[in-house]
Amino acid sequence: MPAAKIYYDADANVSCIKGKKIVFLGFGNQGAAQAQNIRDSGIPNEDILIANREDAYAEDARQRGFTVTDDFESAAKVADVLFLLIPDQVQPRVFNERFVPTLKEGCTIVVASGYNVFYKLLNIHPTSNVVMVAPRMIGSSVRSLYEKGKGFPCFVSCEQDATGNALEIALAISYAIGATKAGAIESSVREETAMDLFAEQALWPNIIVLFQQAFSVLKDAGCSDEALCYEMWMSKEPAEIFERAAEEGFISQLKHHSTVSQYGQLSGSLRLDGSALRKHFEDILHNQVLNGKFCKEFSKIEEDLEKKGDENPLEQLYKKAEASELGQAEARVRSRLQSSS
Ligand code: NAI
Repeated sequence: MPAAKIYYDADANVSCIKGKKIVFLGFGNQGAAQAQNIRDSGIPNEDILIANREDAYAEDARQRGFTVTDDFESAAKVADVLFLLIPDQVQPRVFNERFVPTLKEGCTIVVASGYNVFYKLLNIHPTSNVVMVAPRMIGSSVRSLYEKGKGFPCFVSCEQDATGNALEIALAISYAIGATKAGAIESSVREETAMDLFAEQALWPNIIVLFQQAFSVLKDAGCSDEALCYEMWMSKEPAEIFERAAEEGFISQLKHHSTVSQYGQLSGSLRLDGSALRKHFEDILHNQVLNGKFCKEFSKIEEDLEKKGDENPLEQLYKKAEASELGQAEARVRSRLQSSS
């Protein structure tokens, strides 16, 4: 694999989006941050339109001086650039039903996640550009880092170039939201989706199970719930370790630990045979993520996610996880902490 290109401010020509109508579908985490950054980068307020259903997000956009409409069909007619910044699971329904029929020819569709484009859930017309500008940050950080004059990590890609300058538009957008200041990394919807879903479906589930099993073994050996919760995560030690890993290096952050700890961690990890885990990881990546199996499963339950209580599949999963030994112990510890405060 060749090294990925990294685009900086000097690679962007923001004038290619000046004078264009920029429509944000959604004013939530990413929408609010990116719309404000773009406006502060010199795109006139009258060229920005927030397409939002009537809810608290629409009100927030109005309060911040943006023009807001819930007439998506008319917004589609005027959009030169259309940001899809509503939750991934509702994008196909809203975009396909309410934007596609009236979408302006030559419009550039911007996604902040690869999911719907990689799994081909959006009905993209051949005359549209499709680009990905995907910040690796939550929206509040996209805004606060911009306000501090700093950039943030971001993936950028051109997925369909109908007008011949889709990448130029993607880079102009990356610049205007403040991403090229830190360097926007060339990627693709396949790469972004593979890494994102792999982390969510392989890496973090294993970390959850590691913590649950470690908790259980230490509890059986006589450790208290209180001591375990603090030792394992409530002290924020894992958060600090990852912060140092990001700043100094995944391995070299170990040098902040005691010698006993450094020796234990390095010798222990080098002794472990990761081959079974690797097989399991490969299975998830190829037979669940890349082949679209998870996407199909998720599409089936997507509408149920708006239901309340036990009919909501996510609520059911939360209930199960909270009933685990670790979940129950933590609830007990936290309720005692609250009652003593
Ligand atoms: P969000 O959950 O903050 O979205 C809220 C917005 O969606 C509001 O404007 C709301 O009115 C609208 N909305 C919600 N349900 C709707 C429906 N049924 N019909 C019409 N509008 C509806 O979304 P978020 O988290 O900003 O995600 C947007 C995109 O950005 C997604 O593709 C996500 O993967 C991506 N992304 C999100 C990050 C984050 O910080 N949350 C980080 C990087 C990318």
